[in-house]
Amino acid sequence: MSVDPNAFNRRNFLALGAVAGAGVLAATSLTSVEAAEAVRGAAPTPIKPIPLPAKVYGTEAAGISRKTHDEHYKLYVGYVNKVNEIRAKLAALGVPDPTKANATFSELRELKVEYSFALGGVKNHELYFGHLGGKGGAPDGAIGEAITGTFGSYDSWKADLKATGIAARGWVWLAYDYTDGSLFNYIGDSQNTYPVWNSAPLLGLDVYEHAYFIDFGTARAKYIDAFLSVIDWEAVNRSLANAQTMMKAGK
Ligand SMILES: [Fe+2]
Repeated sequence: MSVDPNAFNRRNFLALGAVAGAGVLAATSLTSVEAAEAVRGAAPTPIKPIPLPAKVYGTEAAGISRKTHDEHYKLYVGYVNKVNEIRAKLAALGVPDPTKANATFSELRELKVEYSFALGGVKNHELYFGHLGGKGGAPDGAIGEAITGTFGSYDSWKADLKATGIAARGWVWLAYDYTDGSLFNYIGDSQNTYPVWNSAPLLGLDVYEHAYFIDFGTARAKYIDAFLSVIDWEAVNRSLANAQTMMKAGK
């Protein structure tokens, strides 16, 4: 099977576009089933895992092994399956009954909380795999200029990313803010914690132990160094261009 190396990044961008288009859905004529789907915010069709791009295995020379990626990919497929399972359960619930909703425990609460975890697991890993297997180092193009513009230099950004990666429990995202075009290295302790509205992730660093323990043991800093040496900056530049398009569309 041929694999489109840009597929991972494209679904991330399309997913953002789908969220932005929710208002359009509400303005069109919907069947009752479609309307219920729109209320829940869940797409009516199951998603499928995107094949792992072959370029990902280009990280082996830097120390991130084939075995790590193959095991890691299984976790990603697990998130895809859970997204589909939760969507099916939400569909089976029908239009939610507000009298049965409860903030301590209710089926709707549990499904929606874990839905954000599962869908976050899909999108975070599609971002991560989508920009692995490049030449790393200081970036060219617009992302290089944006990093220098916000952080002063590539080395300053790199130091901030590395420290943030050591301080995080799950993820670090370099994100672009649609409001003012600024960049920031955010911490995510889980698949679904601390996202910031009006921002798009451009780069995702997975610091869960499963991403590096096979190859680096507890030496997370060495894993982050390896990650920095294999970033595909072309993929990050495409994500930045998409984010800038979204920013212009919002003005
Ligand atoms: Fe992961």
